[in-house]
Amino acid sequence: MSEATLLNKYVIRPIKHSDGELIATYYSTLSETTKVIFPGYPFTDEEAHRLAREEADHPGMMRYIVIDPLMAESTGQMIGTVWFWNWDCMIPWIGLMIADSYQGRGLGSRMMAHAINEARMKGKGGILLTTHKENIRGQTLYARYGFQIIGQDDRGEHLMILSF
Ligand SMILES: CC(C)(COP(=O)(O)OP(=O)(O)OC[C@H]1O[C@@H](n2cnc3c(N)ncnc32)[C@H](O)[C@@H]1OP(=O)(O)O)[C@@H](O)C(=O)NCCC(=O)NCCS
Repeated sequence: MSEATLLNKYVIRPIKHSDGELIATYYSTLSETTKVIFPGYPFTDEEAHRLAREEADHPGMMRYIVIDPLMAESTGQMIGTVWFWNWDCMIPWIGLMIADSYQGRGLGSRMMAHAINEARMKGKGGILLTTHKENIRGQTLYARYGFQIIGQDDRGEHLMILSF
């Protein structure tokens, strides 16, 4: 598994079994505007602890946590996450989510660059994602890294692929 890496002044590292509380605190800071982008997803303490318990070391999952070391420890210091599912397949799926006050400052771009590099190093053939048609910031980011729209999913979201 890859180790912690610097993303400018932030740290990105794989999720650990002990990250439940860290993720729960992060979820508690997210606005409705950010949460609504993930319809039906339970941003609860239980879900945060389940993620940490089940995703660390799961062969089908690869989740990274982004930390701001300058943030107060009482707020948990987690500012984002980028994750793959179907990580044991040739073309895994990716998701990204950044704390509201850190959005629009180039962090998503750095996280995507890191994730693409990890997928390439593991010999993947590409990356898939879906994004809401109105998520212009997300689409700008994905297009910048070479993702192309290849259709839509059954919720009407853009289906995009980056082929290596
Ligand atoms: C979508 C998300 C991951 C993007 O990360 P980010 O750090 O906010 O984005 P960045 O600052 O790296 O900007 C990415 C690109 O979008 C552009 N951009 C930023 N804000 C924008 C806006 N409001 N409208 C259009 N483009 C915008 C930037 O200029 C940049 O393009 P460039 O590199 O060509 O200049 C992040 O905003 C987020 O987590 N949003 C909430 C959850 C979400 O939408 N997740 C993705 C679900 S598919």
